[in-house]
Amino acid sequence: MLTLRGVADDPTVLTRHLALDDAAGLVFRPLAHADADGLAGFLAALSPETRRLSTFPGYDLATAQELCDAIARYDKLRLVLAEAPSGRIVGLLEFSLDLHPADVERYRAAGVHLSATDCRFGATLADDYQGRGLGTRVFPLVADVARRFGKKRMILWGGVVADNARAIRYYEKNGFHHTGSFTGADGVRALDMILDHESARRDP
Ligand SMILES: CC(C)(COP(=O)(O)OP(=O)(O)OC[C@H]1O[C@@H](n2cnc3c(N)ncnc32)[C@H](O)[C@@H]1OP(=O)(O)O)[C@@H](O)C(=O)NCCC(=O)NCCS
Repeated sequence: MLTLRGVADDPTVLTRHLALDDAAGLVFRPLAHADADGLAGFLAALSPETRRLSTFPGYDLATAQELCDAIARYDKLRLVLAEAPSGRIVGLLEFSLDLHPADVERYRAAGVHLSATDCRFGATLADDYQGRGLGTRVFPLVADVARRFGKKRMILWGGVVADNARAIRYYEKNGFHHTGSFTGADGVRALDMILDHESARRDP
């Protein structure tokens, strides 16, 4: 089974190349310490609407540096999609391998008992890459990462904003189902969704 330290020491274990129809291709790989500037560029370029739907703690170099500093230090695993050969980061795929007690309680109330074999996941693509099927194309790789960390199910990290129709459709078509809804500290209504990826197994 993979560990965060193992991935940080050898990122190639999770690195994959994706051919695209209209470009040279993309690399799917773990976030690296050297990515701070590239990640800051990705965050800074996100539109106000994408920021509303993603809710990162910030969109600047300090935030990017914080995410890079977190590599193998906490329970977070972040992967990026980078254009080849430019290296431009066009997607951020985030796992939280530990669960938050508030999530455990909310899911319990909905009749779903989360455990150590569950994790949290969220995805954000650059605006010019959204709605082109890329999220779905990369999803088997995401599911494979979760499995290799011993995770059997994924819940959405922070839920999905209730009016985010595209993301809801995206998660549904990739096997997630709804378990309930909640209102976050920011007053925004969000939906809880879970993927039991043993039952949605696909080859990467
Ligand atoms: C959510 C996200 C990762 C999905 O990746 P993606 O590559 O855009 O998604 P895909 O193109 O693979 O799939 C989107 C699906 O939604 C459908 N869709 C697009 N706009 C839609 C809308 N307004 N209402 C309903 N469905 C919509 C698409 O047709 C497609 O479904 P289909 O293949 O059955 O036709 C990406 O759009 C994104 O980063 N969005 C902004 C940030 C965000 O919302 N993140 C999620 C936070 S929980």
